[in-house]
Amino acid sequence: MKQSIKTPPTALLEAVELIEPLLQKRLESFDLPANLYDAASYAVVNGGKRVRPALTLMCCEVVGGSRDLAIDAAIAVEFIHCFSLVHDDLPSIDNDELRRGKPTLHIHAGEAMAVLAGDLLLPLAFELLSNGQYTATQQSKLVRTLASATRKMVAGQVYDTLGGLPEHLSAEDGLKEIHKNKTGALISCACTLGGICGKASDAHLKAIQEFGETTGLMFQIVDDLIDLQGESEHVGKATGKDADAGKKTYPGTIGVEESLCAVQSLQKRAEEALSPLGNDAETLRLFNLWMAHRTR
Ligand code: IPE
Ligand code: IPE
Ligand code: MG
Ligand code: MG
Ligand code: MG
Repeated sequence: MKQSIKTPPTALLEAVELIEPLLQKRLESFDLPANLYDAASYAVVNGGKRVRPALTLMCCEVVGGSRDLAIDAAIAVEFIHCFSLVHDDLPSIDNDELRRGKPTLHIHAGEAMAVLAGDLLLPLAFELLSNGQYTATQQSKLVRTLASATRKMVAGQVYDTLGGLPEHLSAEDGLKEIHKNKTGALISCACTLGGICGKASDAHLKAIQEFGETTGLMFQIVDDLIDLQGESEHVGKATGKDADAGKKTYPGTIGVEESLCAVQSLQKRAEEALSPLGNDAETLRLFNLWMAHRTR
Protein backbone atom coordinates (compact mmCIF):
# COMPACT_ATOMS: atom_id res chain seq x y z
CA MET A 1 0.00 0.00 0.00
CA LYS A 2 1.25 3.48 -0.85
CA GLN A 3 1.85 5.40 2.35
CA SER A 4 1.65 9.18 2.69
CA ILE A 5 4.22 10.85 4.92
CA LYS A 6 1.40 12.90 6.46
CA THR A 7 -0.63 10.00 7.85
CA PRO A 8 0.65 7.70 10.59
CA PRO A 9 2.07 4.54 9.03
CA THR A 10 -0.03 1.38 9.21
CA ALA A 11 2.63 -0.26 11.38
CA LEU A 12 2.12 2.44 14.01
CA LEU A 13 -1.67 2.09 13.95
CA GLU A 14 -1.36 -1.69 14.30
CA ALA A 15 1.11 -1.36 17.16
CA VAL A 16 -1.17 1.08 18.98
CA GLU A 17 -4.11 -1.30 18.59
CA LEU A 18 -2.09 -4.11 20.11
CA ILE A 19 -0.34 -2.17 22.87
CA GLU A 20 -3.03 0.23 24.08
CA PRO A 21 -5.24 -2.24 26.01
CA LEU A 22 -2.17 -4.10 27.30
CA LEU A 23 -0.71 -0.97 28.92
CA GLN A 24 -3.76 -0.87 31.19
CA LYS A 25 -3.72 -4.63 31.75
CA ARG A 26 -0.09 -4.68 32.82
CA LEU A 27 -0.69 -1.80 35.25
CA GLU A 28 -3.61 -3.75 36.71
CA SER A 29 -1.37 -6.78 37.24
CA PHE A 30 0.70 -5.04 39.95
CA ASP A 31 -0.30 -4.80 43.58
CA LEU A 32 -0.77 -1.06 44.08
CA PRO A 33 -2.77 1.29 46.30
CA ALA A 34 -5.82 2.52 44.37
CA ASN A 35 -4.71 6.15 44.36
CA LEU A 36 -1.27 5.26 43.01
CA TYR A 37 -2.78 2.97 40.37
CA ASP A 38 -5.13 5.77 39.30
CA ALA A 39 -2.25 8.23 38.97
CA ALA A 40 -0.12 5.76 37.01
CA SER A 41 -3.04 5.00 34.68
CA TYR A 42 -3.59 8.71 34.17
CA ALA A 43 0.06 9.07 33.17
CA VAL A 44 0.16 6.07 30.85
CA VAL A 45 -3.26 5.38 29.33
CA ASN A 46 -3.85 8.80 27.90
CA GLY A 47 -3.38 8.95 24.17
CA GLY A 48 0.37 9.04 23.65
CA LYS A 49 1.56 8.35 20.11
CA ARG A 50 3.31 5.14 21.29
CA VAL A 51 6.28 5.71 19.03
CA ARG A 52 8.72 3.84 21.28
CA PRO A 53 6.70 0.63 21.84
CA ALA A 54 5.83 0.61 18.12
CA LEU A 55 9.56 0.73 17.33
CA THR A 56 10.20 -2.17 19.71
CA LEU A 57 7.55 -4.33 18.02
CA MET A 58 8.68 -3.36 14.52
CA CYS A 59 12.36 -3.98 15.21
CA CYS A 60 11.55 -7.42 16.61
CA GLU A 61 9.64 -8.28 13.44
CA VAL A 62 12.24 -6.81 11.13
CA VAL A 63 14.89 -9.18 12.52
CA GLY A 64 12.57 -12.16 12.08
CA GLY A 65 10.91 -12.43 15.50
CA SER A 66 7.19 -12.52 16.23
CA ARG A 67 5.95 -9.21 17.61
CA ASP A 68 4.29 -11.02 20.53
CA LEU A 69 7.76 -11.72 21.91
CA ALA A 70 8.40 -7.99 22.21
CA ILE A 71 5.18 -6.89 23.93
CA ASP A 72 6.51 -6.66 27.48
CA ALA A 73 9.70 -4.94 26.39
CA ALA A 74 7.57 -2.48 24.40
CA ILE A 75 5.40 -1.74 27.43
CA ALA A 76 8.49 -1.39 29.63
CA VAL A 77 9.97 1.30 27.39
CA GLU A 78 6.66 3.18 27.25
CA PHE A 79 6.49 3.08 31.08
CA ILE A 80 9.94 4.69 31.26
CA HIS A 81 8.91 7.27 28.68
CA CYS A 82 5.73 8.12 30.63
CA PHE A 83 7.77 8.42 33.84
CA SER A 84 10.10 10.83 32.04
CA LEU A 85 7.15 12.94 30.83
CA VAL A 86 5.53 13.17 34.27
CA HIS A 87 8.77 14.37 35.81
CA ASP A 88 9.62 16.59 32.82
CA ASP A 89 6.34 18.47 33.36
CA LEU A 90 6.87 19.12 37.08
CA PRO A 91 7.00 22.75 38.26
CA SER A 92 10.69 22.37 39.12
CA ILE A 93 11.55 21.12 35.62
CA ASP A 94 9.48 22.40 32.65
CA ASN A 95 6.44 23.54 34.65
CA ASP A 96 3.88 22.38 32.09
CA GLU A 97 0.14 22.08 32.63
CA LEU A 98 -0.95 20.26 29.48
CA ARG A 99 0.23 16.84 28.29
CA ARG A 100 -1.38 14.63 25.65
CA GLY A 101 -4.31 17.05 25.57
CA LYS A 102 -5.08 16.78 29.30
CA PRO A 103 -3.91 18.50 32.50
CA THR A 104 -0.51 17.16 33.54
CA LEU A 105 -0.45 14.67 36.39
CA HIS A 106 0.76 17.17 39.00
CA ILE A 107 -2.16 19.46 38.10
CA HIS A 108 -4.59 16.53 38.24
CA ALA A 109 -3.34 14.72 41.34
CA GLY A 110 -0.83 17.03 43.03
CA GLU A 111 2.93 17.23 42.90
CA ALA A 112 3.68 14.55 45.49
CA MET A 113 1.62 11.99 43.60
CA ALA A 114 3.21 13.00 40.28
CA VAL A 115 6.70 12.48 41.70
CA LEU A 116 5.72 9.13 43.19
CA ALA A 117 3.76 7.84 40.18
CA GLY A 118 6.74 8.72 37.97
CA ASP A 119 8.99 6.87 40.43
CA LEU A 120 6.67 3.87 40.32
CA LEU A 121 6.84 3.43 36.55
CA LEU A 122 10.60 2.91 36.74
CA PRO A 123 10.55 -0.35 38.76
CA LEU A 124 7.43 -1.56 36.96
CA ALA A 125 9.34 -1.43 33.68
CA PHE A 126 12.06 -3.67 35.08
CA GLU A 127 9.55 -6.05 36.69
CA LEU A 128 8.05 -6.52 33.23
CA LEU A 129 11.42 -7.35 31.72
CA SER A 130 12.04 -9.97 34.41
CA ASN A 131 8.65 -11.71 34.38
CA GLY A 132 10.09 -14.99 33.18
CA GLN A 133 9.20 -14.91 29.50
CA TYR A 134 12.68 -14.04 28.26
CA THR A 135 15.72 -16.33 28.41
CA ALA A 136 18.35 -15.45 31.04
CA THR A 137 20.67 -14.07 28.35
CA GLN A 138 17.93 -11.99 26.78
CA GLN A 139 16.79 -10.73 30.16
CA SER A 140 20.22 -9.49 31.19
CA LYS A 141 20.67 -7.73 27.82
CA LEU A 142 17.19 -6.17 28.02
CA VAL A 143 17.73 -4.94 31.58
CA ARG A 144 21.15 -3.47 30.82
CA THR A 145 19.90 -1.76 27.67
CA LEU A 146 16.89 -0.19 29.37
CA ALA A 147 18.84 0.79 32.49
CA SER A 148 21.60 2.51 30.54
CA ALA A 149 19.12 4.38 28.32
CA THR A 150 17.22 5.54 31.42
CA ARG A 151 20.49 6.73 32.97
CA LYS A 152 21.22 8.71 29.79
CA MET A 153 17.70 10.16 29.76
CA VAL A 154 18.16 11.42 33.32
CA ALA A 155 21.62 12.85 32.50
CA GLY A 156 20.10 14.55 29.44
CA GLN A 157 17.36 16.08 31.57
CA VAL A 158 20.04 17.42 33.92
CA TYR A 159 21.98 18.94 31.00
CA ASP A 160 18.72 20.43 29.70
CA THR A 161 17.56 21.84 33.02
CA LEU A 162 20.63 22.40 35.19
CA GLY A 163 23.58 22.37 32.79
CA GLY A 164 26.78 20.45 33.45
CA LEU A 165 27.81 19.62 29.89
CA PRO A 166 31.54 19.10 29.29
CA GLU A 167 32.99 22.58 28.78
CA HIS A 168 35.01 21.81 25.65
CA LEU A 169 31.87 21.23 23.56
CA SER A 170 30.77 23.85 21.03
CA ALA A 171 27.19 25.20 21.32
CA GLU A 172 25.99 22.83 18.61
CA ASP A 173 27.82 19.77 19.94
CA GLY A 174 26.54 20.52 23.45
CA LEU A 175 23.00 20.72 22.12
CA LYS A 176 23.43 17.44 20.27
CA GLU A 177 24.64 15.86 23.51
CA ILE A 178 21.53 17.08 25.36
CA HIS A 179 19.19 15.74 22.69
CA LYS A 180 20.98 12.42 22.22
CA ASN A 181 20.75 11.80 25.94
CA LYS A 182 17.37 13.14 26.94
CA THR A 183 15.45 11.67 23.97
CA GLY A 184 17.68 9.77 21.56
CA ALA A 185 18.83 7.20 24.09
CA LEU A 186 15.35 5.89 24.90
CA ILE A 187 14.30 5.79 21.25
CA SER A 188 17.45 3.90 20.34
CA CYS A 189 16.83 1.60 23.30
CA ALA A 190 13.26 0.94 22.09
CA CYS A 191 14.73 -0.32 18.81
CA THR A 192 17.48 -2.38 20.45
CA LEU A 193 15.03 -4.04 22.85
CA GLY A 194 13.02 -5.20 19.82
CA GLY A 195 16.16 -6.61 18.24
CA ILE A 196 17.05 -8.48 21.43
CA CYS A 197 13.51 -9.92 21.74
CA GLY A 198 13.75 -11.08 18.11
CA LYS A 199 17.21 -12.63 18.71
CA ALA A 200 18.84 -10.44 16.06
CA SER A 201 22.30 -11.28 14.75
CA ASP A 202 25.10 -8.95 15.91
CA ALA A 203 25.15 -7.22 12.51
CA HIS A 204 21.39 -6.64 12.53
CA LEU A 205 21.42 -5.45 16.13
CA LYS A 206 24.17 -2.96 15.29
CA ALA A 207 22.15 -1.66 12.32
CA ILE A 208 19.04 -1.29 14.44
CA GLN A 209 20.92 0.50 17.18
CA GLU A 210 22.44 2.96 14.72
CA PHE A 211 19.04 3.52 13.15
CA GLY A 212 17.61 4.20 16.62
CA GLU A 213 20.33 6.65 17.64
CA THR A 214 19.95 8.62 14.43
CA THR A 215 16.16 8.72 14.34
CA GLY A 216 16.15 9.45 18.09
CA LEU A 217 18.19 12.63 17.65
CA MET A 218 15.99 13.58 14.71
CA PHE A 219 12.90 13.05 16.87
CA GLN A 220 13.98 15.71 19.39
CA ILE A 221 14.90 18.23 16.68
CA VAL A 222 11.38 17.79 15.28
CA ASP A 223 10.02 18.23 18.82
CA ASP A 224 11.93 21.53 19.07
CA LEU A 225 10.45 22.67 15.75
CA ILE A 226 6.96 21.67 16.86
CA ASP A 227 7.38 23.73 20.04
CA LEU A 228 8.27 26.72 17.89
CA GLN A 229 5.71 26.30 15.11
CA GLY A 230 2.88 24.09 16.39
CA GLU A 231 -0.52 24.96 17.84
CA SER A 232 -1.12 23.70 21.35
CA GLU A 233 -4.58 22.23 20.56
CA HIS A 234 -3.11 20.14 17.77
CA VAL A 235 0.05 19.12 19.60
CA GLY A 236 -1.65 18.34 22.94
CA LYS A 237 0.96 20.21 24.99
CA ALA A 238 1.94 23.83 25.43
CA THR A 239 3.95 25.22 22.53
CA GLY A 240 6.15 28.28 22.20
CA LYS A 241 7.65 27.66 25.62
CA ASP A 242 11.23 26.58 24.90
CA ALA A 243 12.46 30.03 23.90
CA ASP A 244 10.83 31.74 26.90
CA ALA A 245 12.27 29.12 29.23
CA GLY A 246 15.74 29.68 27.75
CA LYS A 247 15.94 26.07 26.57
CA LYS A 248 18.74 25.07 24.23
CA THR A 249 16.99 23.98 21.02
CA TYR A 250 18.00 23.36 17.41
CA PRO A 251 15.97 26.20 15.89
CA GLY A 252 17.14 28.51 18.70
CA THR A 253 20.79 27.61 18.08
CA ILE A 254 21.15 27.04 14.33
CA GLY A 255 17.86 28.50 13.00
CA VAL A 256 14.76 26.91 11.47
CA GLU A 257 16.17 26.30 7.97
CA GLU A 258 19.31 24.59 9.27
CA SER A 259 17.21 22.55 11.69
CA LEU A 260 15.04 21.33 8.82
CA CYS A 261 18.20 20.38 6.91
CA ALA A 262 19.47 18.51 9.97
CA VAL A 263 16.18 16.59 10.15
CA GLN A 264 16.40 15.68 6.48
CA SER A 265 19.99 14.55 6.73
CA LEU A 266 19.32 12.46 9.86
CA GLN A 267 16.29 10.91 8.18
CA LYS A 268 18.50 9.82 5.28
CA ARG A 269 21.25 8.59 7.59
CA ALA A 270 18.76 6.55 9.62
CA GLU A 271 17.49 5.03 6.38
CA GLU A 272 21.04 4.16 5.32
CA ALA A 273 21.66 2.49 8.67
CA LEU A 274 18.89 0.03 7.77
CA SER A 275 20.63 -1.22 4.63
CA PRO A 276 22.00 -4.45 6.21
CA LEU A 277 18.38 -5.42 6.85
CA GLY A 278 17.37 -5.17 3.19
CA ASN A 279 13.72 -5.00 2.13
CA ASP A 280 12.57 -6.41 5.46
CA ALA A 281 13.16 -2.97 6.95
CA GLU A 282 10.56 -1.21 4.80
CA THR A 283 8.21 -0.67 7.77
CA LEU A 284 11.00 1.08 9.68
CA ARG A 285 11.89 3.20 6.67
CA LEU A 286 8.31 4.43 6.34
CA PHE A 287 8.02 5.01 10.05
CA ASN A 288 11.21 7.05 10.06
CA LEU A 289 9.95 9.14 7.16
CA TRP A 290 6.73 9.88 9.01
CA MET A 291 8.65 10.82 12.17
CA ALA A 292 10.64 13.36 10.16
CA HIS A 293 7.41 15.02 8.98
CA ARG A 294 5.22 14.66 12.04
CA THR A 295 3.40 17.73 13.36
CA ARG A 296 2.57 16.47 16.84
C1 IPE B 1 7.62 13.82 23.87
O1 IPE B 1 7.65 12.54 23.30
C2 IPE B 1 8.85 14.06 24.65
C3 IPE B 1 10.08 13.88 23.90
C4 IPE B 1 10.98 13.07 24.30
C5 IPE B 1 10.32 14.65 22.72
P1 IPE B 1 6.50 12.07 22.29
O2 IPE B 1 6.35 13.10 21.22
O3 IPE B 1 6.75 10.68 21.88
O4 IPE B 1 5.21 12.15 23.24
P2 IPE B 1 3.94 11.20 23.34
O5 IPE B 1 4.41 9.93 23.97
O6 IPE B 1 3.37 10.98 21.97
O7 IPE B 1 3.00 11.96 24.23
C1 IPE C 1 11.58 15.95 26.94
O1 IPE C 1 12.02 17.02 26.21
C2 IPE C 1 12.57 14.92 27.16
C3 IPE C 1 12.10 13.98 28.17
C4 IPE C 1 10.89 13.92 28.66
C5 IPE C 1 13.06 13.05 28.66
P1 IPE C 1 10.96 18.19 26.14
O2 IPE C 1 10.84 18.87 27.46
O3 IPE C 1 11.24 19.02 24.96
O4 IPE C 1 9.60 17.37 25.87
P2 IPE C 1 8.18 18.02 25.78
O5 IPE C 1 8.24 19.04 24.68
O6 IPE C 1 7.86 18.61 27.12
O7 IPE C 1 7.29 16.85 25.42
MG1 MG D 1 12.02 19.14 29.10
MG1 MG E 1 9.03 19.46 28.47
MG1 MG F 1 9.78 19.81 23.67
